[in-house]
Amino acid sequence: MINIALPKGRLGEKVYKMLSQVGYGCDEYSEDSRKLVFKDSSGEVSYFWVKPADVSVYVELGAADIGVVGKDILNEYDPDVYELLDLGLGKCSMCVAAKNDWIDDISVPLRVATKFTRTAEKYFGGLGREIEIIKLNGSIELGPVLGISDVIVDIVETGTTLRENNLRVFERIYDISARLISNKSAYKFKNEEIRNIVAKLSEVTR
Ligand code: PRP
Repeated sequence: MINIALPKGRLGEKVYKMLSQVGYGCDEYSEDSRKLVFKDSSGEVSYFWVKPADVSVYVELGAADIGVVGKDILNEYDPDVYELLDLGLGKCSMCVAAKNDWIDDISVPLRVATKFTRTAEKYFGGLGREIEIIKLNGSIELGPVLGISDVIVDIVETGTTLRENNLRVFERIYDISARLISNKSAYKFKNEEIRNIVAKLSEVTR
């Protein structure tokens, strides 16, 4: 039995479709259900739906053998897992954004609103720029709009949220897409099954 952790939401549903297309469908699965665990009657596969940021926790702790997580989460939390495959889904970027007319004043620490605090510290640390982190959990764009931060470090997909709030991208830090990850000991003990899944998924992602 392979236990798979999927991120709840649109990305998870796309990944589930991809997995069922290559033979890992689950007869208990239903998009509308509030159930969190689905098992296939074959006994070969079971799925858990978890918050996107928690997938790597379940995989690292071995509750799930494999899972799908954004590269943003891997970069931010650096979980002790193997990254097996870029699924080419959920493409977006981690960016520094600010008001359209923002000009950096390097004589004072830069106020950075973000939920990706380590990413921000690492990025600005690399530039030797002193910062003050304002940790937010969502609607990060409000930081510069309401004046509690100078910039944000956040995910940009279509750019609509920035545009509609008179903000723009100043720097692109890295590109993001969904990655298949594996628990390290599961990769050893369920090696054949996991490698089969990777091989089949690589065919459909190519
Ligand atoms: C993410 C991200 C941006 C938005 C970017 O937020 O934090 O706010 O999507 O997408 P866009 O470039 O297509 O506009 P999410 O919807 O996950 O909600 P959040 O504000 O709670 O983080």
